[in-house]
Amino acid sequence: METIVWQETYSLGIKLIDNQHRELVEIINDVYDAKLRGSKNGEIKNSIIKLAEYTHKHFDTEEELSFKYDYPELDSQIDENNQVRIQVDKLLHQAKSGNLELSDNVIDFLRDWTLNHITNTDKIYCEFLSGKEVDN
Ligand SMILES: [Fe+2]
Repeated sequence: METIVWQETYSLGIKLIDNQHRELVEIINDVYDAKLRGSKNGEIKNSIIKLAEYTHKHFDTEEELSFKYDYPELDSQIDENNQVRIQVDKLLHQAKSGNLELSDNVIDFLRDWTLNHITNTDKIYCEFLSGKEVDN
């Protein structure tokens, strides 16, 4: 396991989306750092709260843009996002109730979905958005 190092290939050409992805990667790295440092529960809890809030914000942004620009894959985008929403909400619930088990599997899951989300799902999505004046 390692932190995610931002690669230029992760930039998909839509500034709004790229900035949110960078922030998401940083937050996931913070979660991992907190675990590595054996941080007190409060710190890990705060990093999970931040992760859950930002994940929701990011998905909401993408779905709003999809709706606005009539993205043909909106339904499957929502399905995919909802699966992750359920997972981060589960973590959030565990963190808030003091039952969070931040295993390596959880970190791997966060890392894998983020990279897959950026390099596969959103690569196609941002190709669709290019030329739509999203950043204006
Ligand atoms: Fe995204």
